[in-house]
Amino acid sequence: HRASLCKARSGYQMLNPISERIAARIEGALGPRGLVEGEAVAPHAPYGVPASQALHMARPSSTAEVAHVLRICAEERIGVVPLGGATGFVGGTRAPQGTLLLSMARMNTIRAIEPANGCIEVEAGCLLANAQAAAMDASMSLSLSFGAEGSAQIGGALATNAGGFRALRFGSARDICLGIEAVTSDGAIWNGLRKVRKDNTGYDLKHLLIGSEGTLAVICAAVLRLDPKPVQRICAVVALQSEGVTIGLLRQLQGAGAVVSAFELFGEGGLALALEDGSAMAPVNVDAAAHALIEIDADAGSRSLLEATLAKALESGIISDAVVAQSEAQRARFWQLREATTDGIGRAGWIASADVSVPLGELAAYLSDIREGLKQEAGAARFIAYGHAGDGNLHLNLLPAKGETPEQAPVGLDARFYRLCYSQAMRRSGSFSAEHGIGRTKMSALAHYLDPVELALMKSVKHALDPLGIMNPGVIID
Ligand code: MLT
Ligand code: ZN
Repeated sequence: HRASLCKARSGYQMLNPISERIAARIEGALGPRGLVEGEAVAPHAPYGVPASQALHMARPSSTAEVAHVLRICAEERIGVVPLGGATGFVGGTRAPQGTLLLSMARMNTIRAIEPANGCIEVEAGCLLANAQAAAMDASMSLSLSFGAEGSAQIGGALATNAGGFRALRFGSARDICLGIEAVTSDGAIWNGLRKVRKDNTGYDLKHLLIGSEGTLAVICAAVLRLDPKPVQRICAVVALQSEGVTIGLLRQLQGAGAVVSAFELFGEGGLALALEDGSAMAPVNVDAAAHALIEIDADAGSRSLLEATLAKALESGIISDAVVAQSEAQRARFWQLREATTDGIGRAGWIASADVSVPLGELAAYLSDIREGLKQEAGAARFIAYGHAGDGNLHLNLLPAKGETPEQAPVGLDARFYRLCYSQAMRRSGSFSAEHGIGRTKMSALAHYLDPVELALMKSVKHALDPLGIMNPGVIID
């Protein structure tokens, strides 16, 4: 019985599977609503990520209960997989057989909203969309936003350092986090719920846990920064002369004084893919080489500033068409187009999907190098590059030729695609893992591309904070 379980072994003692006795211990700690058993625990698996294999899911209702569960797991050598909304792309919540899923869904309270302090305190299981709405009600803005915000939880967003649409102006999840409450791998509660912008109290352990994908500790609550609500958000969709003019246009807008909060690229074929399901109309000429969605946080004069800058860009030929949303409803439709690109990729199924970032000045050359490299490789497969170009983060997707499935792609094409995208990003001082994390799917890339000293330091950190290797075994560091 003891010998089965997880592959998370190297350097660590073997983990045990959950026996009936251990399940009873967990249930004793959490009550009957606190433990779910059997097939029901497998969380849905978005975008083709295989579902979890765990047969036990703990559902604590307080930080004290999380601590209790972690103490049991440490004593019994049980692997623990913290679970938020399961909206990630890298299999970080795909729990191996015999491990315990630790769902934070019951811990969803907004503990306090403090406009005077410019912050909100929320439990980890609170949906990002609910925290945003609470901020709005208090005439403030929570500046983290991404497609899955309706089902993603704050704890997961922090654990993966989610990025999204406004990172260009406000940074990723870590940049809006002022404090956290967490439970360590041996079940101690750390109260780090500070509410200040400046805090140089030794090592920044909060930032160590943010982005650690549940491999070091469990984030149970957080204080997030609130920003003043913009008077207005003005959104435009433009048709670009080529992918190569993207960053030039961004710089023109910024140079004119526009506070650009989002700048999303639809590379060649991206807008057409978004429109494929027929539910939306193209606001501009869909046959243009590429498109961008631009949003600015606006005051009274901003609309004319945006329009004047786009008029100049039209004159110079770097864009061929532009439509500025005239209503909130039209703005929402523009954003739906952006999200429809991601949906289109899910619908088509992908052969490979990379999430890279490159320095802004290199973005055009990077894309053209990838296209060049693919000429020899990709055959009829479709290459769609899109995403958060304004902060240098692109989602690069290789889709099967129309009418084909990913399984029909030439053998090894996915590996060759990843090699091309990753090595070109690294060569340009970029990242092969921009906003989706390492999870289970990018561990071999981590071993291959990461500086060996950096990897050794990461292993030391893992060993120091999780000496038994029970935290999300098999993720980031095996
Ligand atoms: C997005 O920006 O829509 C998401 O990160 C998903 C993706 O990889 O396409
Ligand atoms: Zn993204």
